[in-house]
Parts: sequence; C-alpha cells; structure tokens
Amino acid sequence: MALFDDAYAADPHPALAELRQAGPAHRVISAAGVPFWMITRWDEARQVLADSSLSKRQPVDQLPPQLRSALATQMLLRDPPDHTRLRRLISAAFTPRRTQALAPGIERITDRLLGELATVPEPDLISGFAVPLPFAVICELLGIPAAERGPFHAWSNVIIIGDSSAADMVGAMSEIVAYFRDLLARKRAQPADDLLSALLAVVDDGDRLTDDEVVGMALLLLVAGHETTANLIGNAVYLLCRWPDQRKRVLDDPGLLPAMVEEVLRMASPAATTTYRVTTRPITLGETTIPAGEQVLISLLAVNRDPERYADPDTLDLDRSDGGHLAFGHGVHFCLGAPLARLEARIALGRLLNRYPDVQLAVPPQELHWRTGMLMHGLAALPIRLRS
Ligand code: HEM
Repeated sequence: MALFDDAYAADPHPALAELRQAGPAHRVISAAGVPFWMITRWDEARQVLADSSLSKRQPVDQLPPQLRSALATQMLLRDPPDHTRLRRLISAAFTPRRTQALAPGIERITDRLLGELATVPEPDLISGFAVPLPFAVICELLGIPAAERGPFHAWSNVIIIGDSSAADMVGAMSEIVAYFRDLLARKRAQPADDLLSALLAVVDDGDRLTDDEVVGMALLLLVAGHETTANLIGNAVYLLCRWPDQRKRVLDDPGLLPAMVEEVLRMASPAATTTYRVTTRPITLGETTIPAGEQVLISLLAVNRDPERYADPDTLDLDRSDGGHLAFGHGVHFCLGAPLARLEARIALGRLLNRYPDVQLAVPPQELHWRTGMLMHGLAALPIRLRS
C-alpha cells in the first residue's frame, strides 16, 4: 500500500482505515526508506505509550558537536529517570500561571493578524494567521526581543515549515542553538519575566538545569509547539468551513469553543504521529509480536478515528459523549504544551469567528494542498474569503 505519498497527504484516512481494519500494528517503510512499525488502533496505542520498556533514546553521535549536547538533553529524547528529572524542573518554570499570563498577548497578536488578513481579497489563512500566531507566542514565552525575531524567524522556518534538506536543517538548528546560548548569557546577566529566565532560575531539591538543558528545552519548545499549533488552527478553520452546522452551533454558543477545539484535535490530529520509540524487548499487540530493537510510531490520525473507540468516527460532533483523544499523546511524554496549544486555539478561533463569522474556503476542498511528510497533518495553504 502506498503510504506517505501526495494522495496520502491529501486524505490519509482511507489507507489508515484499511490498516486499522487489518490489525493493530503494521511494518511499513517511511518515505526516507526506513522500516518501522505503525500502530493504528486505540487500545494498542495506549498500551504502547504506557509501556516503559519502549525507549525514546535516539543516537545523537551522527550530529555535529554544537547540536549534540542540546539535543541529547531534550526530554522528548530521554527515558525515566532522566526524563522525570527534566520534566519536573521544566514544569516548575513552565507553569499553568505562566501559560495563562500569555492570554492578553495572544489576543493582541490575534487581533493584529486578523486585521491584516482583511487587507487582501483572498488571504491565505496559513501564512497570514495560523503560522505567525504560534511563532509570535513562542517568542513572547521565551522572551526573544522583538528586534531579534527576524533572523530567528528565518532559521525556524527552515526547521519547521517546508521541505528543507538535512544540511539546511542542521545549519539552521546550529544558528538557533548559538543564538539561544548568547541570549541565555544575557538573561543570566539581566533576568526578565520570561520562560528562559525562569528555566535558568529554577531550583528543585538542590537540583537545577544546565545551560545545555535550557538550550535543548528552548529548541524543543520551538519545534514541538510551532507547526503543531499552526496545523491545529488551520485544520480547525478548514473543518468549520466543511461542517457549517457545527460552526453555527459555536457561533450561537461560544461556550462550545473548547469542545470544538477538542473535536478538531481528534478528527484532524495536527501531529499525525507520535515521535519514534524503540522496543527493548519483544512486545505483543493482539496477534502481532514486534521484536526487540524495532522503531515504533503511533498513527494519531488512525487511533483518533478508531471505530472501536468512537461512534461515527468520521463525523465532527461537538456533543460526543465518547470524546477525548490521543492527539497530545499519553503517558510520561504527554504534551507539555497542551494547555498553551488549547489556549491559543480557543482565542484564535473564537476571535476569528467573532470577526468573520462567514469565513469560507476560496477554492474547492479538492484543490487544497496538504503538507507531505509523515509526522504532521496540516494544510500548506488555505485560501479563504472572509465575507460571503
Ligand atoms: C496542537 C498543538 C500540539 C500538538 C498536537 C502536540 C502534540 C504532542 C505530542 C503527540 C507529544 C508526545 C510525543 C510522543 O510521545 O512521542 C508532545 C510532546 C511535547 N510537546 Fe506538544 N503538541 C502541541 C503543542 C505544543 C506546544 C504549544 C508546546 C510548547 C510550547 C509543546 C511542547 C511539547 C513538549 C515539550 C513535549 C515533550 C514532552 C515530554 O517529553 O515529556 N507542544 N506534543
């Protein structure tokens, strides 16, 4: 079966439904030619994500030295107890209060971008709104000065958006790591009310983060929080245009916004898959046994539409009694930024619908281009009409 080609990017669900029907785990080949196991059913996905025998550690010795230390210390690439320590220290700085404090800034950026959208006849929601909003929010969160965001934006675009070569990615990451090291020195000399300063200051039981760990974390936040949130906003606007009855319900009752965001996370999961895990011993899922030493990915797109878990899984339904999803993962690596992603999406979509309640697709859905690549699920562009 052809996976991860353009047809799959445009609509992965027929192929995923076939796989899910056939069994919970499948050996497939990535677009880069690497074999791995893909999990397509809900129950087995939870089983794998809760199984501490699977490891997140990936070899980093192929990477240039300037990147190795920042990547090797990232919590998404560590197992307990290292992961537990990092997550505890980082959670002490990246608190719900810090997230909530970003709300006025998110509202301000949202309103500015929404105003700018109206200056073009058929704006692209992705490049004009869904991508710049999370970028600006991450810059605010980390405390990147406004005057330094230009080059930072260019580097992060290479990493996050588009089909950059491996050499370009490594180049851009090295620039960002060098920039963060310099910024960190300045934050240490002059702490501010931002996450980088808080990460430098956090002390737990006499333990603290090293500079490499703070840099690794900053890079992880940028990579993990930017395109995913952009996809969530883009996918939500797309689905609201395709399901006008559900959009009307949100317009009539803005209290349904959180339910709408959760249902979009389920129906059009912005991270198409989790990151890789490696089996350290054989694991049995249904009738299939995956040997030790194999790479495993959960298809979040597949499991979030598992008919064994959801009635009518292909329907956007704000009233589902069987709600909930695995779009933010499960277990010890559950998304650390989920509260921020939810906050951003609720503000972005609430204000967009309030200002442009008749927003519509400017082209037929079959003409839209979805990003290719295995890990993300989002539109490359979404031309819209703001008023009917
Ligand atoms: C809609 C937006 C988002 C989605 C769908 C999403 C999805 C995910 C998923 C599926 C994982 C687990 C990966 C795995 O287990 O292999 C994860 C982890 C993570 N996410 Fe998110 N994410 C989003 C937004 C964000 C934001 C805004 C941030 C931070 C600013 C963030 C930071 C992280 C971090 C740090 C981890 C690693 C946690 C750990 O290893 O303990 N994410 N995310």
